[in-house]
Amino acid sequence: MQKKLWPAVALAATVSAAAHAEIPNLSLDFPPTPSTLNVFASAAAHRRAETLVNKMTLDEKLQLIHSEYQMSAVPGGGGGYIQGVPRLGIPDINMVDSATGSGSTVQPSTTFPATIAVAASWDRRLSSDFGKQIAIQLRQQGFAMGLGGGTNLAREPRGGRLFEYLGEDPVLAGEMLAWRTDGTQSQKVIATIKHYMGNEQEHNRNGGNSQIDERTMRELYLLPFEIAARRAQPGSVMCSYNRVNGTYACENSHILNDVLKNDWQFQGQVQSDWGAAQSTAPAINAGLDEEEDVGPTVYLTPDAVKQAIANGSVSTARLNDMVERKLYVMIRTGVMDDPPKGGATIDFAAANAFTQSVAEQSMVLLKNANNQLPLAGGSLSRIAVIGGHADAAVLTGGGSGNTRDPVTGSFAGCGGLTFGTETGCSWWTNPWLKLNVPIVSAIQALAPQAKVTFAGNSDQQSPFRAYTQQEISQAATLAANSDVAVVVVAQPAGEDIGDLTSLSLANPSNQDALVEAVAQANPHTIVVVESGNPVLMPWKDSVSAIVEAWYPGEAGGKAIADVLFGKVNPSGKLPVTFPVRDQDTPTWGTNGAFAADPVYSEKLDMGYRWYDSQNITPMFEFGYGLSYTHFAYSGLSVARLPGGLIDVSFNVRNDGRVAGAEVPQVYLGVPYQGEPPRRLVGWDKVGLNPGESRRVHVMVTPRMQSVWDTTNNRWQYVPGSRVYVGASSRDIRLQGGN
Ligand code: BGC
Repeated sequence: MQKKLWPAVALAATVSAAAHAEIPNLSLDFPPTPSTLNVFASAAAHRRAETLVNKMTLDEKLQLIHSEYQMSAVPGGGGGYIQGVPRLGIPDINMVDSATGSGSTVQPSTTFPATIAVAASWDRRLSSDFGKQIAIQLRQQGFAMGLGGGTNLAREPRGGRLFEYLGEDPVLAGEMLAWRTDGTQSQKVIATIKHYMGNEQEHNRNGGNSQIDERTMRELYLLPFEIAARRAQPGSVMCSYNRVNGTYACENSHILNDVLKNDWQFQGQVQSDWGAAQSTAPAINAGLDEEEDVGPTVYLTPDAVKQAIANGSVSTARLNDMVERKLYVMIRTGVMDDPPKGGATIDFAAANAFTQSVAEQSMVLLKNANNQLPLAGGSLSRIAVIGGHADAAVLTGGGSGNTRDPVTGSFAGCGGLTFGTETGCSWWTNPWLKLNVPIVSAIQALAPQAKVTFAGNSDQQSPFRAYTQQEISQAATLAANSDVAVVVVAQPAGEDIGDLTSLSLANPSNQDALVEAVAQANPHTIVVVESGNPVLMPWKDSVSAIVEAWYPGEAGGKAIADVLFGKVNPSGKLPVTFPVRDQDTPTWGTNGAFAADPVYSEKLDMGYRWYDSQNITPMFEFGYGLSYTHFAYSGLSVARLPGGLIDVSFNVRNDGRVAGAEVPQVYLGVPYQGEPPRRLVGWDKVGLNPGESRRVHVMVTPRMQSVWDTTNNRWQYVPGSRVYVGASSRDIRLQGGN
């Protein structure tokens, strides 16, 4: 796929020289994704937006920079509403959360897998399709803007919203987000990327001060936003609740004006997270273009902005810029001329099939001793399925990344299946998604002769109370009398309920004890993990196979069964490191306490960079994932091309007996002080039949070989990087080239 992009890049580079001066952000480092290629349309959109602004009254302009919560005519309202200006042909904008499907309050939506799962697929095209399929439903419901593009990095592995993000590597996250954004905007839906920036934990979520040095920001935490913003031109960037180096993100001129709008030449709008604006003139002058209002305190109301203009603290030119950015985005994405009408019939069956394929392509096979998997349906007569509500549901993430009314059936009233405290029940706090075909039924369908028996928590009990000793004994007895035992363990997480206190499954329930007991009773124990975060696995050596299924969405039951029985050959790779212990993670400190104002003192050594630089062996490293086949790597060539590009090419051969897909990864060791041993700079995902071989090319751009020079405040190209090609960040198969 990487290779196919290059002709487009060459075209864009040629065009950019002649293009409108307002479109300068095309470069070899950030080749435009397909939907953003049309630079002439972009220049025309600017001119049209400018003409419209000149025709608007002050009140009309003020109406466009402040959204009301749930005021719209769209059923369920969504998350925000901007009233249009009919006399000028400017339509209303209804926006809604869309991390894993539409978060509309009342309209049914497909529940797609969590975005961390999409990252685990390492499949750019899949990410694009994911954005596209969600956008199709948004438009059908009447929404012109989707807020689903979360991409804060997994610095804090216990982060409550990790399931909504794209892992710990800035290039993986940025690329996947760029492609998701492209898919979304290809459907005439404005994409938002969020939460900009330094919003890596839930602890102290409304104002924690993230203290990050400039080089670390540029090389890690800003980079996914830069890649997505420059490659795919999302209509909107959402600034976050926290402060960055002392100043609230939504009034932080450095990250908004200097970096986003000047350095990256971002042409779209900056919108606040819900209630994240903290001032009127300071925020506007720092680069905030639109406030999303949840009350009670609001700052960009028509009155407040009028007053700021009257007293000279905000200029009319700046107000015009804010409005023009919004109109430009609407024109460029097609929303202006073809606004969504809503009320359309959604093809839920087709979407369900798509969600299944996403879940299947994202699952990561972590262990497979003695080829325990795939299971042979015909040869098994007794299968035990234990725990995790596998008879009924799968886990989803809570908060705005949840899907409120999954069409395949939510728990009416939630039953007992809410988060720990069990008080009340809403879409926000219900992490369980009831399935039409839960894991138990899906397994039964693939092993029709077998007796499939479930043991574990039932629907009406709290899922996260500790299993009783009696339940554990019953599960172990069932396992002892079965050919294989599949244990499902679940780690819930969600927005606004705090970060996890530990990566251990033992908290809040004692699922580790359950796994240990089952594994002792049956040597053929397979663990399926449903989580949005890494989990600790003290039982890793006692079980025979482990599959990370993430929060797999509404077809998760079938997808899990298909992987277990080999109808699908797993090809996901971890987008986050799974450590052995909490104490090994970069943010644990001495006792695991969360800092209210986190200091990013590990600097560039975050994620796998931390484990590599500290020589800590993780349980499963970043980029790791097994397959039912295996792949051989050979023939590395490192060709240094003019302009600082490196064409890294090598052969990958499927030398096993079944078809499968491999994700060969290219890392660089950049010889510069403070750099970690290796950084990911590119990858491909290649499907190969048994015996088939492919020459893979990964083009490494100059930026990928650069460091942020803090003395001169610019990127500095570092020659002589060593090239590593691996099946994971630690399973390096080929190297050379410096
Ligand atoms: C979240 C955002 C979300 C917004 C609107 C906020 O609480 O942080 O991610 O888009 O709500 O629902």
